[in-house]
Amino acid sequence: MRKRFIAGNWKMYKTTVEASSLARALAAEFGGLTDRRVMVAPPFTALTAVREALAGSPILLGAQNAAAELEGAHTGEVSPRMLRDVGVAVVILGHSERRHVYGETDALVNRKVKLALAEGLEVILCVGETLDERQAGVTEKVVGGQVRAGLAGVASLAGVTIAYEPVWAIGTGRNATPEDADAVHRTIRGIVAGLYSPAAAEALVIQYGGSVKPDNAAALMRMANIDGALVGGASLKAETFVPIVRFDR
Ligand code: PGA
Repeated sequence: MRKRFIAGNWKMYKTTVEASSLARALAAEFGGLTDRRVMVAPPFTALTAVREALAGSPILLGAQNAAAELEGAHTGEVSPRMLRDVGVAVVILGHSERRHVYGETDALVNRKVKLALAEGLEVILCVGETLDERQAGVTEKVVGGQVRAGLAGVASLAGVTIAYEPVWAIGTGRNATPEDADAVHRTIRGIVAGLYSPAAAEALVIQYGGSVKPDNAAALMRMANIDGALVGGASLKAETFVPIVRFDR
C-alpha cells in the first residue's frame, strides 16, 4: 500500500520570519499525522528556521534543488551534504523551472539524483511535458525519456518519489484532468516496472503537480495512480495547504 505524500514547494517566497510562522502553523495542524507524509520545501535561507519550527513534528523538511557536486569551486551552489547538515530529508530535483528557466538537462538532473541519494537524501524527481509537446502528442515520449534519463544508474528506487508536473499546468490555474494525469502516471509506472520490477513500480509514489488546490485535490487523489501532490502556490498559506493535505476528510 503506497502512503500518500503531499509536498509543498515554497519556491522563492518567504523570509525566515514568514517561513517559520507558516511552519509553526502547519506543525500545530499535523502533530499526529501518521497515515500520510507531508513535506515543506522552503528556500535555502529559511531551512534552519523551518527545521526549528518543525521540531517534534512529523512534517519532513525538504529543499528545492541541490548541486551535482559535494564541494568545491561552485559559486552559488548548495551541495546535498550541506542540505543533510541542516536537517533536510528530501530534495526536489529536476523541477520544470530548473529545467526550463535555468537550463538543467536530463544528464545534470541524473547526476544530482544519484549524488543526493548517495548522500542519504530522499529525492522527488520532477518530470513533465510542455504545452507544445502535449499538443504534438509526444507527452508520453517526453515524460518517459525524463524518467529513464533521470533514473539512469540508480540501482534501487528506495527513497525515490516521482512528481508528474505538466509544465503548462504549473502556476497557471489550468490543471490536467484527473483522467489525463492518471494516464501519464500509469505510463510512468509501466516504464518503472520495465526498468526495475513490477513490485518496485507498484510501490513507487507518484505525485501530481500543477495548480493543485483545495477544490481539485480530492478528485486527483482519487485516481488509482495518483499518490500525492507537489503543491506550489497553494502551499504558501496554511488555509489552502491544510485542506489539500486533508483532501479526504
Ligand atoms: P503550482 O506549482 O501548484 O503553483 O502550479 C506546482 C509546482 O511547481 O511544483
